[in-house]
Amino acid sequence: MRRPILRLGADALTEPARPVAAITTEIATLIDDMIDTMYAAPGIGLAAPQVGVPLRVFVIDLSLGHDRGELITMVNPEFVDRAGMQLEEEGCLSVPGFTATVARPHRAVVRGLDREGQPQTLEGDGLLARAFQHEIDHLDGRLFTDRLRGIKRDLIVRKIHKLARAGKW
Ligand code: NI
Repeated sequence: MRRPILRLGADALTEPARPVAAITTEIATLIDDMIDTMYAAPGIGLAAPQVGVPLRVFVIDLSLGHDRGELITMVNPEFVDRAGMQLEEEGCLSVPGFTATVARPHRAVVRGLDREGQPQTLEGDGLLARAFQHEIDHLDGRLFTDRLRGIKRDLIVRKIHKLARAGKW
């Protein structure tokens, strides 16, 4: 079932998420709902705080659902390694209509649990590394706009305030 995606300005997006204690049926349902919500958006990644759940869970599918083999579910992720640097355009389902160039490490290795609660370690380069870091930022209460320099961030935030005042955000 799809869940509403919170947008920049929602308090839940700025609070650090808690680790998942056990993969209960509620967590399994949360994961299914996050996958449905990500595909419907459509987006390549979604973190639980974006649907208002303060738990350390994210889903990623760089194929947008075209290749189910690409679907990644990560519970309680942590970085094992990060290396290099990339500068690419980035967006977020919680900041619709806005993108910005964000500096990220080029490679990331992430360890966590899969949806069955089994340990998994995944390695990503380029876009996948960027997605890992973007989603873990969400779990730490950070949006990509928080990674921008002052002027660029202020410009986006000002435009969003304007949209909000017009009832369009
Ligand atoms: Ni995002």
